[in-house]
Amino acid sequence: MATESPNTAPEAPARPVLEGRVVPPGGAEAQDLARRLALFTVEAPRRRLADLVVPDGTRRQIAALLTKIRYHHVLYEDFGLGEIDPYGGRTAINLYGPPGTGKSFAAEALAHELGLGLIRANYAEIESKFVGETAKNIRAAFQKAREAQALLFFDEADSILGRRLSHITQSTDHAVNVSRSVMLLELDRFAGVTVFATNLAANYDTAFIRRILGHVEMPLPDAAGRRQLWRYHVPARMPVQLDAADWERLVTETDGLAGGDILNSVVAAASAALEREGPACRITLADFLAAIQAAKRAKAVIGRPAA
Ligand SMILES: Nc1ncnc2c1ncn2[C@@H]1O[C@H](COP(=O)(O)OP(=O)(O)O)[C@@H](O)[C@H]1O
Ligand SMILES: [Mg+2]
Repeated sequence: MATESPNTAPEAPARPVLEGRVVPPGGAEAQDLARRLALFTVEAPRRRLADLVVPDGTRRQIAALLTKIRYHHVLYEDFGLGEIDPYGGRTAINLYGPPGTGKSFAAEALAHELGLGLIRANYAEIESKFVGETAKNIRAAFQKAREAQALLFFDEADSILGRRLSHITQSTDHAVNVSRSVMLLELDRFAGVTVFATNLAANYDTAFIRRILGHVEMPLPDAAGRRQLWRYHVPARMPVQLDAADWERLVTETDGLAGGDILNSVVAAASAALEREGPACRITLADFLAAIQAAKRAKAVIGRPAA
């Protein structure tokens, strides 16, 4: 993975003056920046694209996006596309779909595939936890990604990608517009890869649409997908007592559920068997069915996969 080199960040051509002043380097400001940079840690990605369960069309779309990113330099400089495609610099990907369908998994696998580190920035958290500080934290996230050569993953990015507000009534609305403007500026000057994850694809701000290389749908898995997900999430060493018909039962029972629910069901079923029989246990179909029912109930109540 990339080592940190603090001086690789290129200066912006024209420094944005969004808070009414240009921030000088050094002193208290430098300390403030160091503190913000520390909010974002760089991980070595471990998930593999080969393990991601998606429909064939989605897999082909991801492969095509990876090619565009890998050969960006060739396309836009060597082949001269940069002269005719004004938005050619974009390398942001938006993954959208219901909770638990593998968006975080895919972001990590993309980083792995591209040989990049991974920075997870939970956008909803940046926005709510750091009121009024959002813009500065967004800039810090991009700077850290630049320094560490990391893929920058903005999870729960629904609010940032939505329409900017045109009738500003409250100061919070103003803050939202400022952080969106900062996000757009940073996306434009960032040469690395950004991935957004959203639950909803509707109502995108056109300014973001232009900067996004591709929108990738992460749907709920069909029966074939769930069959693969069950196989992937039950390791060969796990002591399960299931025949071929039982495995099919698991596939049909989880219709409407996501990969995240299947993972949770496996953990819950195995835990129930352990609780009953200890480490020499057998995990039965009944354990799995009970866990699946619990996952369905949790989803009905809070609309998210069971924790
Ligand atoms: N499409 C998928 N392919 C493989 N595993 C998946 C998939 N969807 C979900 N999972 C499993 O569920 C877990 C949680 O999924 P996650 O990526 O966090 O979903 P999301 O970010 O869309 O809410 C993953 O770590 C993985 O084990
Ligand atoms: Mg996620």
